[in-house]
Amino acid sequence: MKSWLSAFGRRLLPVAIRRKIVRLTRWPPVGRVRFGSLRRLRPISAEWGLDRGKPIDRYFIERFLAQNAADIQGRVLEIGANSYTLAFGGARVTQSDVLHVAEDRPQVTIVGDLTAGEHIQPDMFDCIILTQTLQAIYDVRAAIATVHRTLKPGGVVLATVPGIGKISRYDMERWGYYWGFTTASARRLFEEAFRPANVQVEAYGNVLTSISFLHGLAVEELRAGELEAVDPDFQMLITIRAVKDTA
Ligand SMILES: C[S@@+](CC[C@H](N)C(=O)[O-])C[C@H]1O[C@@H](n2cnc3c(N)ncnc32)[C@H](O)[C@@H]1O
Repeated sequence: MKSWLSAFGRRLLPVAIRRKIVRLTRWPPVGRVRFGSLRRLRPISAEWGLDRGKPIDRYFIERFLAQNAADIQGRVLEIGANSYTLAFGGARVTQSDVLHVAEDRPQVTIVGDLTAGEHIQPDMFDCIILTQTLQAIYDVRAAIATVHRTLKPGGVVLATVPGIGKISRYDMERWGYYWGFTTASARRLFEEAFRPANVQVEAYGNVLTSISFLHGLAVEELRAGELEAVDPDFQMLITIRAVKDTA
């Protein structure tokens, strides 16, 4: 009945009227969406929500590290600072290293480029925490190859990369900001270096968390169900756990 009616409508009604009917039957109707506080050209927070609460991507990053905290043990390398090593590794960590590409800050034990990696010996680390770093490295393949080479056999990399997100101007003006990822690109990149069976990739986000994150809203501003719903077509954050073969 319905298809008969729409075929009838297609033949009898002029195109302009048909289009108007279609627009009026969308919900909310076309032109009637209430943008509220979101109708603006600058984000509500330019600091990913740090000034409002916990940034939405950090909520998923920290949960991923908490779920895999047992991997954070022995000699652990982190990029830029060792805050996640201390927070999630605790007493399991026997040595904490920090790599920085350019600056020799107090916590930094290795100054160097992950894409070259010749200053980092092979088989050194039990765990590498590689959060929100690969988007700032042009030659991602070379960086992942270094990560694989410098892990001990059985060692684990816990990586996160942005999917949908705001560019970091700070990174862009120093080392660069090159990429946004998907589960497909993250999986292929890590499977080129690690045995595919040893690579686990997951994505978090939905249309609401993505819009909220772009606007710099904080975790505290969303409801639990809104935060937790995963829509694979809106990948805000991608997590990767990869283990180096023991043999
Ligand atoms: C957004 S920070 C991420 C660091 C931090 N661990 C986090 O969770 O936010 C991006 C980092 O990428 C590092 N980086 C950029 N290019 C690099 C390279 N070629 N080799 C190693 N690190 C690099 C920078 O030093 C910077 O600390």
